[in-house]
Amino acid sequence: MNSSTSSSIHIDLDPAELPSHIAIIMDGNGRWAKKRLLSRIKGHEKGSEAVRTIVRACREIRIPNLTLYAFSTENWQRPQSEIVALMTLLKKFLESEQKEMVDNNIRLNAIGQTERLPKNVQQALHKAMTVTRKNDGMLLNLALSYGGRAEIVKMVKEIAIKVKDGNIEPDSITPELISEHLYTSGIPDPDLLIRTSGEMRISNFLLWQIAYTEIYVTNTLWPDFGKDEFVRILIDYQHRKRRFGKVE
Ligand code: FPP
Repeated sequence: MNSSTSSSIHIDLDPAELPSHIAIIMDGNGRWAKKRLLSRIKGHEKGSEAVRTIVRACREIRIPNLTLYAFSTENWQRPQSEIVALMTLLKKFLESEQKEMVDNNIRLNAIGQTERLPKNVQQALHKAMTVTRKNDGMLLNLALSYGGRAEIVKMVKEIAIKVKDGNIEPDSITPELISEHLYTSGIPDPDLLIRTSGEMRISNFLLWQIAYTEIYVTNTLWPDFGKDEFVRILIDYQHRKRRFGKVE
């Protein structure tokens, strides 16, 4: 991807006002499949293609950080066959996209209880994270076996141990210290959260980090979500006035 391509495509976007972090709740794979009398797994397969499209679009538009909610702690309660299919897709994605991530200077990271993932997925993840670790063009953050409440519990435990051991005073617990103990430590909070398929809820995603995030919910089902709509959402975002609780 060269700069002339990226600068000529999205004339309606102000490069100075792009979100530095976009988080996406990719919902609607099951409904997409049901509408076509297909199995839910076919919906997830089509959803993986949308993942590719949106990762490419973000890199092209120069969004520095993208976090995708690919598997939640609650998703472990789905039928075993669906979990296996999702894990297989994830492994395939990690293997097939590795070269593209290297070529396009994308660093891969995962947030969540990744130790609960099947060993072969953990290995594919580790490999993709290792080979892309020096890349600094964009961070692709996959939320895998992720839950916002579990993340907060992890953070509280870590800080409680530090207080108990006398390494920090309770008074030194600040919002910054809390952020440092989350999976997303070092990554700016999302500026924009997109949810597909019309549900008006957060579903345990990045609970602490989205305090001042702009939210956009589209009725489009995730497998139908593409670059054109993504760019329209970015344009909508650029027209919003963010006040962070203050007056203008
Ligand atoms: C929600 O749709 C989607 C998921 C639980 C998984 C998201 C997974 C993918 C997009 C594909 C694999 C991911 C990667 C990174 C390759 P749903 O099943 O809840 O849909 P429904 O609400 O319509 O039933």
